[in-house]
Amino acid sequence: MIQPSSVFSNLTVSLGERSYPIVIGRHLLDDSDFARYVPGKRIAIVTNTVVAPLYLQRLLDMLGAAGKSCISIVLPDGEEEKNAANLMRIFDALLEHKCDRKTTLLALGGGVIGDMTGFAAATYMRGVPFVQVPTTLLAQVDSSVGGKTAINHPLGKNMIGAFYQPQAVLADTATLASLPDRELSAGMAEVIKHGAIIDAPFFDWLEANIVKLMARDDAALAYAIQRSCEIKADVVRQDEREGGLRAILNFGHTFAHAIEAGMGYGTWLHGEAVGCGMVMAADLSERLGFLSASDKARIIALVQAAGLPVTAPDLGAERWLDLMEVDKKNEDGKIKFILLKPLGQSIITGAPAEFVRATLAACTQADK
Ligand code: NAD
Ligand code: GLY
Repeated sequence: MIQPSSVFSNLTVSLGERSYPIVIGRHLLDDSDFARYVPGKRIAIVTNTVVAPLYLQRLLDMLGAAGKSCISIVLPDGEEEKNAANLMRIFDALLEHKCDRKTTLLALGGGVIGDMTGFAAATYMRGVPFVQVPTTLLAQVDSSVGGKTAINHPLGKNMIGAFYQPQAVLADTATLASLPDRELSAGMAEVIKHGAIIDAPFFDWLEANIVKLMARDDAALAYAIQRSCEIKADVVRQDEREGGLRAILNFGHTFAHAIEAGMGYGTWLHGEAVGCGMVMAADLSERLGFLSASDKARIIALVQAAGLPVTAPDLGAERWLDLMEVDKKNEDGKIKFILLKPLGQSIITGAPAEFVRATLAACTQADK
């Protein structure tokens, strides 16, 4: 059924001539008015086997009503599918349909589809226009914004990719209604991250509203998405290609990427690994004297209240360190961490090996 659309917020990622809007609202997919954010006449929609039955026809109708001609590329679902074989499938379909440089690639789905489609857009014919239509909480609060695109390599997460900004992000929060609870929790990890690294009042707000958020209260979710996008857009504006500041968006990710690769992509959801990784980074921050025990406890409690794991898998210390040595932030073979100093502010730093080993030992035990 067609529902009236409403826009909660319309933000801009300010990057000079590469600036673009983030439109956050309900039922955007039911309103052909929003097709104006999708440049070009020919659109290649990339999605997956889970999202296609839910939202592809609505998007086709919406773009069709605005006079656009579309093809659809439906990939298998899952983090383990964020790979070179599926990237090649996108190229195969684009070439088979004789898509040219003016064809716009549109990602309809979560972060996996968004990252992979973005990388295809960055490289097909040396770059074609790209639009993000994120349908998971994680993608609406984080991955669709900022232009990081990538596929995984068996030896490391997101190792093959490019910085390539979309022309627009259209976040229809009504799509979150079909999101499984586990995926809602995964998205909440990146929301918590934004408060922890840079915005203590937002962290306080999250503590006060976590029950509403997990109950999918519309207004609470809309605010969490908007504030997350504001925070991310501001960081990206200051440091688009991660010369420095942008690395703080990787809080918890040094540990998380090791969990994802170490357990096998798709075993832990990315957001679950980030939730646990933030607990580990908080533990290391406390050991180094940067964070109080009570603030570490607040982080653990909020991550837990979001339904995320707080105990790390026991990969064995050597394997953990080996995996963390393959991280894009590392320099001269030294592992870099994003730590809290204090809650609401972050620093990018190395850490003495004995402290890292102590964190690994403490966080792989159930009793903290
Ligand atoms: P995902 O894309 O795998 O989506 C999660 C699951 O939800 C999938 O099964 C998907 O098919 C399904 N789904 C999507 N929308 C749905 C809907 N509306 N209703 C029901 N099911 C739906 O995972 P994700 O959590 O969205 O994204 C994780 C990925 O994002 C990781 O690969 C991570 O590395 C990447 N990421 C990228 C950035 C970035 O800046 N580019 C930031 C954070 C994370
Ligand atoms: N998710 C980390 C970044 O966009 O920089």
